[in-house]
Amino acid sequence: MKKLFLIANWKSNKTLQEAEKWLHDFQEKLTSENLDLSYKEIIICPSFTSLEHVNYCCKNLNLPIQIGVQNISPYETGAYTGEVNGVQIKELANYVIIGHSERRDNFSEDNKIIEKKVEMANKHDVSAIFCIQNAQTPIPENIKIVAYEPPTAIGTGNPDTPENAEEVAKNVKEKTGIETILYGGSVTSKNINSFTKMPTINGALVGGASLDPFEFLRIVKNA
Ligand code: PGA
Repeated sequence: MKKLFLIANWKSNKTLQEAEKWLHDFQEKLTSENLDLSYKEIIICPSFTSLEHVNYCCKNLNLPIQIGVQNISPYETGAYTGEVNGVQIKELANYVIIGHSERRDNFSEDNKIIEKKVEMANKHDVSAIFCIQNAQTPIPENIKIVAYEPPTAIGTGNPDTPENAEEVAKNVKEKTGIETILYGGSVTSKNINSFTKMPTINGALVGGASLDPFEFLRIVKNA
């Protein structure tokens, strides 16, 4: 059986209290459903403000959840106002989303800065979840997880077709040798399985639908 990655990208959402409630609700439902998670890696990517608390709650509630972040400084420790660097991230997270189209578009992140972020993630042993917008998006060296997210599918309720996503995933795998390729963009509990049943798709990066713990759990279950 292939291993699936189910990643919640909370984006710029959730106060501390809301994050805590999500985790409690998720835990309660997960326990009552008694799901087999042996082939599923669940990763939650909260905002930096709740990162430590999410970490604490996951340990406390004994949740089988890995933590990721949504950004990383392209620089080392030092005089870089507003940035969170790889050393700081490694204390609390094992994954980082890099190259998301919302950062490319709203924060002018170009391929050069994205490459520097990947370099930092690799240096500090934080696994990059590298987002591509299409099969032509350049992928830096040493990437192990790619998420194909066509911008027209993000937050629109209009996902790509599983067949097209599979085509892109196959193309990327052939070109780069990367084994773990995810799909992202308007994933819900209703369509998740149509993507994860494709031979080259190993999971999903989920935005909007991950904000509700019960819907995200259904996604994990149906994947
Ligand atoms: P969406 O976002 O699930 O809300 O479409 C996905 C993403 O941006 O990672």
